[in-house]
Amino acid sequence: MKLSKALLMLLLLLGAVILMSGCSDDDDPVVVDEDPPALAFAGSDVCGTCHADTHDQWFHSGHPYKLTKIEGNTAPTADFPDPSAFANAPASPPAGTQWSDFSYTIGGFGWKMRWIQNDGYIYTPATGENQWNFESESFANYHAGETKPYNCGSCHTTGWVDSDDGNAANNEDGMEGFLGTMFAGGVHCEKCHGMGSQHAFKPTAYDMTVDNSSYFCGKCHTRGGDNGITPGEAVIEASGGFIKHHEQYDEWYHSGHNSEHGPGCNDCHNPHASVVFDASTPGEGVSTTVTCASCHVDGAFANIASTTHGHGATCVDCHMPQASKSAYASNIYNGDVSTHLWTINTSVNGMADMFNGDGTAVALDGSSMGAITLDFACYGCHKDPDGVGGTGSTKTLEELAARAATIHTYTTKNIALK
Ligand code: HEC
Ligand code: HEC
Ligand code: HEC
Ligand code: HEC
Ligand code: HEC
Ligand code: HEC
Ligand code: HEC
Ligand code: HEC
Repeated sequence: MKLSKALLMLLLLLGAVILMSGCSDDDDPVVVDEDPPALAFAGSDVCGTCHADTHDQWFHSGHPYKLTKIEGNTAPTADFPDPSAFANAPASPPAGTQWSDFSYTIGGFGWKMRWIQNDGYIYTPATGENQWNFESESFANYHAGETKPYNCGSCHTTGWVDSDDGNAANNEDGMEGFLGTMFAGGVHCEKCHGMGSQHAFKPTAYDMTVDNSSYFCGKCHTRGGDNGITPGEAVIEASGGFIKHHEQYDEWYHSGHNSEHGPGCNDCHNPHASVVFDASTPGEGVSTTVTCASCHVDGAFANIASTTHGHGATCVDCHMPQASKSAYASNIYNGDVSTHLWTINTSVNGMADMFNGDGTAVALDGSSMGAITLDFACYGCHKDPDGVGGTGSTKTLEELAARAATIHTYTTKNIALK
């Protein structure tokens, strides 16, 4: 009997595999027949060749668009993926300038856009306007007249290396005011998973890092880390009657959810998908499988119709109002970032009890917990006696407090274990 050449090869190979697995202990044999490339950034496009769905979700979220290069004399908005998000984009850069006066835009995906000059400094003229707010569709002033180098890269870019050594030659493109170098603008795959050249070369031989802790998201979604303070342990900074933006971790840290059975960022969020444009983009920025009612299973929570308030108000309407502000507030109770404190303080004093004496931070109770007050929780829909608030009926803080005390009919918080 004559074996075909191909069959012979197959048998030889099988033999080799059996031999190899015999030699190793428990691990699968890993045959690396070529030298791997040096460990380096591969770029999100390369990741997308195999992880197409994940790439699609991420591409439609805010993370990639934190720092966008301006090419020539045209708006970079063509680089943003969702035209519907940019119906309210600035038609032109700040008055008296043109796109070619700038090297990059900062942000512009969710809340606001700023500009970086060709010398690397953030555009902050003494007069005139330099920040575009998407919600109000108007310009505002940001640090007018101050010299503002761009040193924001640790949270806004991938592969950022500080170069604050006074030598412009060590900065990105030699720009004097741009105090670092980077692999790419924006939060790319490899910012969260580590450099991927070797994994892309042979995925089964080289694992990527996956860190789904809240602390990891907290390195950027904080105001502690950038001041050298451990995220979370910092106070929750406030100003102008609102919690400041990018403090989701600090808020979560001082909430009931920072507990053994409480949800972390990635229980409620898909880290790849957009929340801001959840409805119009692929993926679920906010999970529809893990919801508030998955854990708060008491009938009083599980079905919103059984809260005694009703009227279509959802858990998030009352418990995650926009008590934080990035760019714009439509009134004193309504900023533009959803707060992550959840607990509602039913005091009749309203926000006077939410912040510390000078309004620079959220007041924490004896157990280091923060809370939102009824004015934020309820005046998104109701109006205060001065007519400020939503489109619903007018209610004094006393009326709200009286109602809040019996708003849920729960007898126990009855939290299901995670
Ligand atoms: C050639 C195809 C390919 C490319 C390119 C690729 N991956 Fe993968 N990736 C895979 C496969 C296959 C797996 C599953 C591997 C396994 O089960 O051992 C995987 C798994 C992963 C995981 C999960 C790891 C774990 O331990 O659970 C992450 C995260 C990941 N890839 C990220 C990336 C990133 C980031 C890039 C770009 C730098 C990338 N991948 C490029 C094919 C690829
Ligand atoms: C500690 C990390 C961190 C640092 C440092 C940081 N930011 Fe941000 N920034 C964020 C996060 C996170 C968001 C989005 C979440 C939010 O605003 O609540 C954000 C949002 C923004 C936005 C709005 C983006 C959009 O698409 O609308 C702008 C503009 C911005 N930052 C500018 C800056 C500038 C300028 C600096 C430096 C002077 C800076 N940031 C420093 C983390 C940071
Ligand atoms: C903001 C951080 C962040 C970015 C950016 C990011 N990931 Fe992830 N990724 C995560 C986290 C966190 C998990 C784990 C999620 C979990 O366990 O709930 C994860 C999980 C994964 C997994 C494992 C399977 C899964 O979906 O749970 C793959 C594969 C993956 N990411 C690929 C990518 C690719 C490709 C990109 C870029 C297109 C990317 N990631 C960008 C944070 C990120
Ligand atoms: C390297 C810093 C960094 C890390 C790490 C990071 N983020 Fe972000 N995140 C940002 C910045 C900057 C923005 C603002 C982007 C923009 O312009 O919209 C942002 C925006 C967001 C948004 C709003 C954007 C949208 O499209 O809805 C969500 C939600 C979010 N991050 C969740 C997470 C989660 C969850 C994690 C952890 C898995 C995480 N982030 C880790 C920096 C970071
Ligand atoms: C993974 C389970 C889980 C999910 C999902 C969840 N929670 Fe919680 N929640 C908890 C746990 C556990 C606590 C802490 C309870 C305690 O021991 O005091 C808590 C605490 C709270 C508190 C403060 C009560 C307290 O005593 O600290 C509020 C308010 C709250 N959750 C509302 C919500 C809302 C609104 C949602 C949806 C946006 C939600 N929760 C989603 C598990 C969950
Ligand atoms: C109309 C506004 C409103 C809606 C809608 C609402 N809540 Fe509440 N919730 C409150 C108020 C006010 C309190 C504080 C009651 C108190 O302290 O006596 C509260 C208390 C709670 C508490 C207990 C906090 C504690 O410290 O004991 C939990 C848990 C909770 N809500 C979860 C939910 C969930 C889950 C949903 C959605 C199914 C929801 N709530 C919908 C207003 C609301
Ligand atoms: C209990 C569930 C839950 C947890 C835990 C949670 N989030 Fe959220 N988050 C939400 C919901 C729901 C929204 C959308 C609120 C809305 O639609 O008004 C949101 C919105 C956001 C936004 C967009 C803000 C805006 O105004 O559009 C960012 C950024 C964000 N979360 C980051 C985080 C980070 C970082 C963590 C962990 C420190 C975290 N979240 C933990 C439920 C959660
Ligand atoms: C999503 C919008 C929404 C939110 C948020 C909301 N309400 Fe209401 N509320 C309504 C509507 C609609 C009605 C019925 C029509 C009216 O009175 O405006 C109502 C009615 C009421 C009434 C009169 C009827 C009754 O049931 O007693 C009180 C009191 C009340 N709400 C208290 C509160 C309190 C307290 C909060 C905050 C913890 C709150 N509401 C948050 C929409 C809302």
